[in-house]
Amino acid sequence: MRCNALQVKRLRIITLTTGKPLPKFTPHMTQRFEAIIIGAGAAGLMCAITAAQRGRSVLILEHNQKIGKKILISGGGRCNFTNLNTGPENFISRNPDFCRSALARFPAEEFVSLINKHKIEFFEKKAGQLFSRDSSRQIVKLLKDECREAGAHIQTNCSIDEISNDNGFNLKTSLKNYECDSLIIATGALSFPQLGATDLGYRVAQQFDIPTIKPRPGLVPIIPQLSDGRPWPFRKLTGISLDCIAQAGGQSFRGNLLFTHQGLSGPAILQTSNYCPNGNHFTLNMMPDNDRLDLLNSSRFENRKPDRWLEQWFPKRVAHSFALEFAPDQLLAQMKQTARERLIEHLFDWRLTAADNEGYKKAEVTVGGVDTEALSSKTMESKKIGGLFFIGEVVDVTGWLGGYNFQWAWASGHAAGQVI
Ligand code: FDA
Repeated sequence: MRCNALQVKRLRIITLTTGKPLPKFTPHMTQRFEAIIIGAGAAGLMCAITAAQRGRSVLILEHNQKIGKKILISGGGRCNFTNLNTGPENFISRNPDFCRSALARFPAEEFVSLINKHKIEFFEKKAGQLFSRDSSRQIVKLLKDECREAGAHIQTNCSIDEISNDNGFNLKTSLKNYECDSLIIATGALSFPQLGATDLGYRVAQQFDIPTIKPRPGLVPIIPQLSDGRPWPFRKLTGISLDCIAQAGGQSFRGNLLFTHQGLSGPAILQTSNYCPNGNHFTLNMMPDNDRLDLLNSSRFENRKPDRWLEQWFPKRVAHSFALEFAPDQLLAQMKQTARERLIEHLFDWRLTAADNEGYKKAEVTVGGVDTEALSSKTMESKKIGGLFFIGEVVDVTGWLGGYNFQWAWASGHAAGQVI
């Protein structure tokens, strides 16, 4: 038996009127939908809602048992679901303008009105960053409820074995075969493999000769190397957090850094990691509220050793470690001017190399992905393969920390959902 979109709708009506479950399909049967979305994450769910609201027959295929796993753990369980100040400047992409159209047509306020519709309480943590007050489970429920209301189907525990393109798209899956006119790849990217991240999106792109920008972990703790090539000597500071300005690739971020067992983490470092591939340099200003020249001048008259002097601004352990690393064990007043300058240089403009990072297991996002040159910025459709769309994190559009990545997922999902 072959089931087209019309029949699928009719079967659903029978189900609703009789209360009986849909007839079971045996594996050799093919079910047809107007649109099939692979991946029930933020982008896929938003795309399904938008398309189903327009009357399209939509199916989402998800290989996990549960949908929206990343949403559930995001924002420490409270999901930083958007940022009110989202703009193209908050994203990294080979084409920085690509995200402009989708973001403009589905701004943060659109998602906030959905949140309000579902009476989910939220709060603004830092400028523009909106979090659910209670739990990210509410966001997943919102998306599930909207899918149900619009008539979008969700099939979990389904893995994709084969995709072909012949008069529409044909999918062989672990459950059955499917056909569709539009195929939307919303599989996310490589970060957090423990939650089911796969490279399927990139493999589909490769299958259809669609170029990708080499992916790398983003928003990820950095494993630094000192400028003279020595490995990281600050393990004993693990757990200590300090205010700083971190800079790389022409961007600078003020916020906390956190000393970890392997190197550095914390918001300022995670943000910097997007702009600092392995082997590149980044700098840290550890005294963002002080004046460099003032401090250099006043240090000439200091009858204290560097560790005692640094205790004015840093926890004792940090002061001691910095003193050991950056200055001779002498009274500041007795040091050579070059030694004082070297100390100040390290405090205000500490140049480090990102030797490595903690990888996809710790990365909140993936930088790179399907090349935006190959996609329409209005619809997310492949320029080469009609009916094939890429949305969300699988695309080479990566946001800063602070709700931008979900906003991109909603906006790109919405853009595709409007046309499929
Ligand atoms: P997403 O990864 O959400 O969804 C992809 C879906 O496809 C998943 O359900 C996956 O199982 C499925 N899939 C993958 N391969 C498949 C296959 N082969 N077959 C079938 N299904 C497949 N962002 C933000 O803005 N605010 C925040 O608070 C956070 N917090 C945060 C915390 C942590 C720990 C992480 C790892 C990430 C964040 N992020 C975030 C980033 C944000 O979660 C991410 O950018 C979006 O979830 C991307 O949405 P997508 O729908 O594109 O992918």
